[in-house]
Amino acid sequence: MKVLVLYTTIDGNTEAVANAIAEKTDADVSKIVRVSKRHAYGIDYLRIWFEVIFNRHPGIFPFKHDPRDYDLIFIGTPVWFNKYNPAYDTLFEVIKIYDRKIALFSTGATDSQKALDKFSKKLKDSVILGRYHCIEPIFEDNEEDTKRILDEAATWAKGIADEAEKMIEEEEFERRKTIYKF
Ligand SMILES: Cc1cc2nc3c(=O)[nH]c(=O)nc-3n(C[C@H](O)[C@H](O)[C@H](O)COP(=O)(O)O)c2cc1C
Repeated sequence: MKVLVLYTTIDGNTEAVANAIAEKTDADVSKIVRVSKRHAYGIDYLRIWFEVIFNRHPGIFPFKHDPRDYDLIFIGTPVWFNKYNPAYDTLFEVIKIYDRKIALFSTGATDSQKALDKFSKKLKDSVILGRYHCIEPIFEDNEEDTKRILDEAATWAKGIADEAEKMIEEEEFERRKTIYKF
């Protein structure tokens, strides 16, 4: 089974979760990078607010892996004003991700799941196997807490990957049944 982790990040929290997931599930990883870079503070904070509120689709650079080549795709985002990174709206415009097995994850300053709700709605044509949200793992005061959160994310991802593998085996079995009519 081919697994891909897609993510965006500014400060590295979502990246840390993406890497923990990728390591545990033996996945390829692609970071979605915006053409116009944004910081998490100052005037850029307002620019991001503007993009989210007015539903802007910012430009993104091409990235290494085509999601359509994968059986299972983990998609991760920081929470921005209760939404996912609008860079994904650009991506989903160019690459239609439907009829894929996906799992969504986010990192935020609070435990709000609103970004994941909007993400789920946006990707309703895919099979969403699960969602995971955590609070800023790398902003934790001590390394143990960071490790605990990242381990939890990795365990969640492994469960999703096992479930996806089982589903694919069953789908293949059904497919063979139709071909060989047994
Ligand atoms: C522009 C902006 C808006 C944010 N809005 C929210 C929000 O609505 N809810 C929340 O819980 N955290 C919010 N945060 C905090 C980020 O979601 C959190 O720090 C996240 O872990 C950052 O991910 P990153 O380190 O991968 O960039 C916001 C941060 C930024 C920069």
